[in-house]
Amino acid sequence: MSEQRIEQVRLGTDGPLVGVQGLGCMGMSEFYGETDEAAARATLTAALDAGVTLFDTADVYGRGANEEFLAPFVAAHRDEIVIATKCGIERTDDPTHRAVRNDPAYIRRCAEASLRRLGVDVIDLYYLHRRDPSVPLAEAVGALAELVERGLVRHLGLSEVTGPELREAHAVHPIAALQSEWSLFSRDVEDSAIPAAVELGVAAVPYSPLGRGFLTGAFSDAATELTADDFRAHLPRYSGDNARTNTALLDPVKRIAREHGITPGQVALAWAQQRAEVHGLAVVPIPGTRRPDRIRENTAATRLRLTADDLAALEPLAAQVAGERYPESMKFTSASRE
Ligand SMILES: NC(=O)c1ccc[n+]([C@@H]2O[C@H](COP(=O)([O-])OP(=O)(O)OC[C@H]3O[C@@H](n4cnc5c(N)ncnc54)[C@H](OP(=O)(O)O)[C@@H]3O)[C@@H](O)[C@H]2O)c1
Repeated sequence: MSEQRIEQVRLGTDGPLVGVQGLGCMGMSEFYGETDEAAARATLTAALDAGVTLFDTADVYGRGANEEFLAPFVAAHRDEIVIATKCGIERTDDPTHRAVRNDPAYIRRCAEASLRRLGVDVIDLYYLHRRDPSVPLAEAVGALAELVERGLVRHLGLSEVTGPELREAHAVHPIAALQSEWSLFSRDVEDSAIPAAVELGVAAVPYSPLGRGFLTGAFSDAATELTADDFRAHLPRYSGDNARTNTALLDPVKRIAREHGITPGQVALAWAQQRAEVHGLAVVPIPGTRRPDRIRENTAATRLRLTADDLAALEPLAAQVAGERYPESMKFTSASRE
């Protein structure tokens, strides 16, 4: 509590004020191996103490378990935090089933279920997790806008959409935030979605800003170093030959970290944060961690400044990364990815 609190920024033109770094809660329930629940709860509190107010979850994380896990924390701090959740990816009791779904009746059901699991009357920020090409976007956003009209949702967001999709959605209802993967290693979003977000006044919420942990140097080959059920072993860029190529790309990240007396993860987070000035929009990265001791390191990165030389040295990395963000089997048409 004695720590310096991070600064705040507004999401969208009339969205909530939030700490300039949020907390990704996904890994607390699924995807990144075993979680110590007490440590995860302590992480939420440590984040709030540091000034983090945007807490990110989704209905699919642990098939509802992540929202339920967050409910006591949300209840204890309802007026201090902004709770963001998502709908649009369907999972069932069959663990192998995933499909992208945006039909209005489904969206309504999902919102009601998320409200119940989170134990709240209103969701502060509700994202469409993935676009379903079989449903017109205006129809899906129209269903989300109805939730706002009914007082069940305060603000809307979209995840992984293109610039034209963001414009189309924003014409139906103001969009406060665009949540897409954006990091030193993943910069596709800069091609079309970020310019549209800048033009519309939509905030960027970069997910996986630490490259799912790879940019911190925490692991260098997911297939051999992480547990068999770790989702990262299924992502092409973090195992085998690709991982070897990509580990070598971290050399300038490590050098810059040494020169500033900071960690490689802080270089990655400072780079993500500085996209705000580079592109001219509000940026709220949401690194995920389940460890309270990492909060200080991660939030301190909001106050770090990389120099023009640092930024220039980091500029070519993304184009050299070996392997896609997601495997072909998880790319969206009608099957989902996370
Ligand atoms: N919209 C979407 O489609 C989408 C997709 C993926 C993720 N997300 C959201 O974005 C959030 C963040 O993304 P992410 O969790 O995938 O990736 P990330 O933030 O890039 O990386 C998380 C990983 O980094 C590790 N880590 C965090 N801080 C660290 C530090 N200081 N030093 C070393 N390792 C550190 C974490 O391990 P520990 O837990 O052990 O600290 C975890 O394994 C998620 O929680 C989720 O809310 C959204």
